[in-house]
Amino acid sequence: MTLGNSYNLREVHRGTWCLGLDTSGKRLVVVGLGYVGVPVAAKFAEAGLQVTGIDIVERKVELINKGTCPFTGDEPGLADLLEKMVRNGRLNATTDYSVIQHADYVLIVVETPFDLRSREPYYKALRSACKSIGKNLRSGTLVVVESTVAPGTTNNIVRPILEAESGLKAGEDFFLATAPERVMPGKLLHNITYLDRNIGGINPESTGRALELYSLIAKGNLHPTDAITAEVVKTTENAYRDVQIAFANEIALLCENIGVDVYEVRELVNKLEDRHMLMPGAGVGGHCLPKDSWLLAFGTRGKHEPKLIAVAREINDGMPRHMSELCESALREAGRGVYGSRITILGLAYLRNTDDTRNSPAFPLIKALEVLGAIPTVHDPYVREANGIKPLADLDEAIEGSDCIAIVTEHSQYYDLDLDHVKSLMRTPIIVDGRKVVDKEECIKKGFIFRGIGR
Ligand SMILES: NC(=O)c1ccc[n+]([C@@H]2O[C@H](COP(=O)([O-])OP(=O)(O)OC[C@H]3O[C@@H](n4cnc5c(N)ncnc54)[C@H](O)[C@@H]3O)[C@@H](O)[C@H]2O)c1
Repeated sequence: MTLGNSYNLREVHRGTWCLGLDTSGKRLVVVGLGYVGVPVAAKFAEAGLQVTGIDIVERKVELINKGTCPFTGDEPGLADLLEKMVRNGRLNATTDYSVIQHADYVLIVVETPFDLRSREPYYKALRSACKSIGKNLRSGTLVVVESTVAPGTTNNIVRPILEAESGLKAGEDFFLATAPERVMPGKLLHNITYLDRNIGGINPESTGRALELYSLIAKGNLHPTDAITAEVVKTTENAYRDVQIAFANEIALLCENIGVDVYEVRELVNKLEDRHMLMPGAGVGGHCLPKDSWLLAFGTRGKHEPKLIAVAREINDGMPRHMSELCESALREAGRGVYGSRITILGLAYLRNTDDTRNSPAFPLIKALEVLGAIPTVHDPYVREANGIKPLADLDEAIEGSDCIAIVTEHSQYYDLDLDHVKSLMRTPIIVDGRKVVDKEECIKKGFIFRGIGR
């Protein structure tokens, strides 16, 4: 595929084609200031563009305009970069979509959940953002969908809304591409900068303009493709990971039942250079992994019904229930029932050292324990409140009088547990480790009843 006269897409790699986009006076708008939108906005501001972020949540807009990141967690470099870009006037935020009338580039980075009941993507935010963008779109602007979407969405949902609202034609009057994000909380800036990126336009000119734009911030390779391929790649890479985790969980369950340690199995399997078994665990969470398999499947609805990724979802979704069964079995060994037992959940966030609680396995675990009559107490050093749960920030307070500790998240703090001290605070010394955070033999030696996923 060749774009215009200027560059051959097959050979386009960062370094071999530097188009040298002149950033002076160029304006970029980022729609959606969440875990992805904030670092993306800061990176483009750093690259020299005048950046405005739009969000419907006024509190986020206020915080960003003060130079404060709206979320917490261990996010190297982000707080400093954001503060610096706001202070030097390169980055600001607003709830007012009229700024798009002056934008050269618009990035869509709103949430794209999946509704398991209707088995359809829940595109309320995406549709609403596209409508507001379309109403303000001017000729010549490049719109890029960074959100993860089901295959076909850029062409079949985003494009018609933008065209209808603007009266402009995509690919001719304005340009449209998808450049799915690959970030992960804890590595937001790093991943935006260094990971390779796939960029697919609805036509070659859109692809080319998007490549030009991302060359400003990307140190990884930029791979040109078309919009639907980029969408399939993004959802496939997350479905792939979900299936791999489900495999590790399946082997963990198998090992538990025959008295073998899954972590030793994993280590020895991975001695073969082309085997890369992932870690099993208490469940899969986050905004992306639990829904991206379904987005991928939705894209082929009526044409192909995937079986493997559906089973993988089922296995991963079953892990919190399994954690609850491990708590139950350990309490039974201690001569207690779950009913009335105080169970301390370590970690409400789904990922280590972040405050991101979306689809955290802690929620179904807490629910399962409550159904059995347990009294859960939640500790998390990063999360202040989520889904009506306010975790304690003080670890001792959370453990005091507890009958069982269930480790759901591998926050760094939990690796430093002083087991003697923990035992002295607990009413019944039980540890159920969902993340291989504590040493099993050490726990048993110290007098704990121990259970762990795959051990
Ligand atoms: N979080 C990740 O690690 C990650 C990684 C890769 C891809 N993604 C994808 O990126 C997208 C965004 O994810 P996120 O984690 O940043 O989500 P998020 O929920 O943290 O942020 C989305 C933001 O969009 C705002 N928003 C919603 N509707 C809006 C509207 N109409 N106008 C303006 N703002 C609006 C929300 O208020 C919110 O601040 C999703 O599609 C996700 O799948 C996320």
